[in-house]
Amino acid sequence: MDKIIIEGGRPLHGTIKVSGAKNAALPLMAAAILAPGVHVLHNVPDLRDTRTMLKLLASFGIKWQWREADQALLLDATTIDNVEASYDLVKTMRASVLVLGPLLARMGRARVSLPGGCAIGARPIDFHIQGLARLGVVSTLESGYVEGSVDGRLKGNSIYFDIPSVTGTENLLMAAALAEGVTEIKNAAREPEIGNLIDMLTGMGARIDGRDTDCLVVRGVKKLRPAEATIIPDRIETGTYLIAAAATGGELTVTACNPGHLDALFEKLRTAGVEVTVGRNQISVCRRQPLKSVDIKTLPYPGFPTDLQAQIMALMCLGNGLSVITETIFENRFMHVAELRRMGANIKVDGHSAIVKGVGSLTGAPVMATDLRASASLVIAALAAQGETEISRVYHLDRGYDNLVGKLVGVGAVIRREAEQND
Ligand code: UD1
Repeated sequence: MDKIIIEGGRPLHGTIKVSGAKNAALPLMAAAILAPGVHVLHNVPDLRDTRTMLKLLASFGIKWQWREADQALLLDATTIDNVEASYDLVKTMRASVLVLGPLLARMGRARVSLPGGCAIGARPIDFHIQGLARLGVVSTLESGYVEGSVDGRLKGNSIYFDIPSVTGTENLLMAAALAEGVTEIKNAAREPEIGNLIDMLTGMGARIDGRDTDCLVVRGVKKLRPAEATIIPDRIETGTYLIAAAATGGELTVTACNPGHLDALFEKLRTAGVEVTVGRNQISVCRRQPLKSVDIKTLPYPGFPTDLQAQIMALMCLGNGLSVITETIFENRFMHVAELRRMGANIKVDGHSAIVKGVGSLTGAPVMATDLRASASLVIAALAAQGETEISRVYHLDRGYDNLVGKLVGVGAVIRREAEQND
């Protein structure tokens, strides 16, 4: 397993081009299951998670090809001859559950391994299962697998989420697209990645109203056709680099992004004393003054994203006072705290809140990546810290950051990747 070594204390300067969003690529790839024929996806990021999704789709009989000429991913879903998502694939990526809705809608049955525990909390899939049951799916749990089947076509119905679930909304949208009759999804999640999926489904012939609202209405159709779609820019990758620049006191422009998706982050950065300049599809940040500590609370979109909580915490470690960071989405998303402490951070966890007392500067240390976004926070802390930091278990980063080391080297970071022998 590889490790990343960072020589910190160097402000980032320059430009980084952001990649397509992991959390949009995964549902859009799963949507290909819904219609026979060749789908074309643009701006697909090269990540461990997108490769896992390709393996999963291939295990169903979907053929894929990378078209060099226009850097497009072609998914040929003409034949599906297997409806089982194996534990081996699902255990490495929770978002594998996204194949459940489309498989049931097209094939009438599916067998998908339960994702199991996960570092950031229990993360059940009960909303997915209950929502699909409302559409007529009968499911059982056997040997760690959810086995679902439907008699004939799925039937439209009204679904209400207790908490807006991102992949839950996506799974049900895909299932409802091919159901008989109308499905209403109330208290639906409103993340931009869902809008991206709705656009692809609409291109396939689906009839969906309420895009960007918490009430989605799907008028089911009998058949869908293959579509061509473009993955939206990754707002979490964008935010991660902007925070890294702020942490190092640098000046950075992130291009090919959608600034409209990050208002909650800009508000916090500006309050912390970071200059933020927003263009049509680029954002620049610059920090010329000491960082002010600000309070953060994660919320469903358009609130502050839980996927940037660990990164902003690394920034707040460098603040001039107290910052209270409250996590409301996942119950155990403070795994990075212990590692940040190893770098000199002063953080106390009290239930769902972390109280961060700014220490002005951090020092390099050997640390361990525990999950995707926690790893990103360690990279940010290491870039800002004095001295060398070694981050082990970087496979977590490979799940969600396309060419992280290359992109950071391009803006002046002293960072390298090495093979680790004894992990
Ligand atoms: C998605 C994102 C993830 C992000 C999260 C919250 C993808 C592939 N992943 O994950 O990066 O951190 O949204 O923005 O898009 N819940 C249940 N039962 C369910 C489903 C969810 O109780 O069946 C709870 C979860 O434990 C959590 C909350 O609902 O407390 C929201 O989770 P959800 O939006 O479903 O997260 P994911 O879709 O898994």
